[in-house]
Amino acid sequence: MAEKFDVVVIGAGAAGLMCAAEAGKRGRSVLVVDHGKKPGRKILISGGGRCNFTNYDVTAGNYVCRNPHFAKSALAQYTQWDFIGMVAKHEIAYEERDHGQLFCLDSAKDIVEMLLKECDLPTVQQRYRCDVHDIAKTEDGFTLMLNTDTVHCQSLVIATGGLSMPKLGATPFGYQVAEQFGLKMVPTTAGLVPFTLHVEDKDAFADLSGIAVPAVVTAEDGTSFKENILFTHRGLSGPAILQISSYWNPGQAVSIDLLPTLSLDETLQAMRDKHPNQSLKNSLSRLLPKRLVEAMIERGDLEDKPLKQLNPKEVQALHNYFHAWHIAPNGTEGYRTAEVTLGGVDTDGLSSKTMETKTVPGLYFIGEVMDVSGWLGGYNFQWAWSSGFVAGQHV
Ligand code: FDA
Repeated sequence: MAEKFDVVVIGAGAAGLMCAAEAGKRGRSVLVVDHGKKPGRKILISGGGRCNFTNYDVTAGNYVCRNPHFAKSALAQYTQWDFIGMVAKHEIAYEERDHGQLFCLDSAKDIVEMLLKECDLPTVQQRYRCDVHDIAKTEDGFTLMLNTDTVHCQSLVIATGGLSMPKLGATPFGYQVAEQFGLKMVPTTAGLVPFTLHVEDKDAFADLSGIAVPAVVTAEDGTSFKENILFTHRGLSGPAILQISSYWNPGQAVSIDLLPTLSLDETLQAMRDKHPNQSLKNSLSRLLPKRLVEAMIERGDLEDKPLKQLNPKEVQALHNYFHAWHIAPNGTEGYRTAEVTLGGVDTDGLSSKTMETKTVPGLYFIGEVMDVSGWLGGYNFQWAWSSGFVAGQHV
């Protein structure tokens, strides 16, 4: 005889635990299963161990999704203020960092413990190291074959996340379930991920590893982010690069304004008036890290000469070069280091109010498994909380 639950949630990550707690509070009997040995593994390592759990400023515009309106309803039903309220109720200390990002003051563990306390209800059971071998639709719900037993549920919630960081238990399970039930998929790629560079660029800049430069990075679709870029031994990283990677397609270039707070032609003109014999290298090194300027000279992008020898055309060329440094990545570091997966279960097949599929009553998808990916800055967890919460009200 199959054990019966009202709800089975597959995946004990951010979205799954939120959904289980909410459904359990409504008196629904809930089983959470996860193939990993413990819950919330991505939460634990997130935000450098301090979990950037939400942001003061959240709108659907902070998400990449084929349907730009899809996230609106869930984000309005369960806002960042609701989650901040839960964090405050559990007396978790937090701090605001740049751009309204909220981090735990102490440890990301606090967030996992909070979610587990919220799930600590007679109605909610959790099973770890538990694989789901088969899912079958029945007249009144779903039958699941687990490691050693079979369970039946009315509502099935897929909260298995995306593909990033396979060593933390990421699998394509959710996509396979979507395909089993005839749902459409948006092709998946790594998002919020460092770029790798073609060998000539990589060799030219590898020695700069660790150097950060404030910049504005713009993708070919015009999206831009003003943040630091960071040179790494493989290519480029840093917040501006991670953000723009979600808007980049293979083969495209990105344009980087390396001097976003000044106008180089005017600055060079002023420098030349004051110090006509000063070299271009020394002048630029007052504005940018010296090693970056040297690398650009060494690879032949710039010619070092006294400022007085620069003609107006050369000044304009330098202006264009530094305000729109074009670099064509050869790829990304991929799912090994990506923070999110772009694409996933197509939201066209889901209700934006409940996360239930439109064609299979009782089947829900929440969190990162679907085609909703947030910017860097706490937006991905907010999506997990909001989508998990709304599903929790309807399962
Ligand atoms: P999540 O990945 O959290 O959970 C999925 C669960 O499903 C896991 O427990 C997994 O074991 C389980 N599972 C998978 N396959 C299964 C299977 N076949 N059977 C059973 N269980 C299965 N976001 C943010 O807003 N702020 C931040 O600070 C960070 N920081 C960050 C750092 C790093 C290094 C990464 C990789 C990611 C982030 N993120 C982030 C992104 C954030 O972690 C992510 O978007 C959410 O965890 C997604 O929540 P989900 O619940 O959808 O999936």
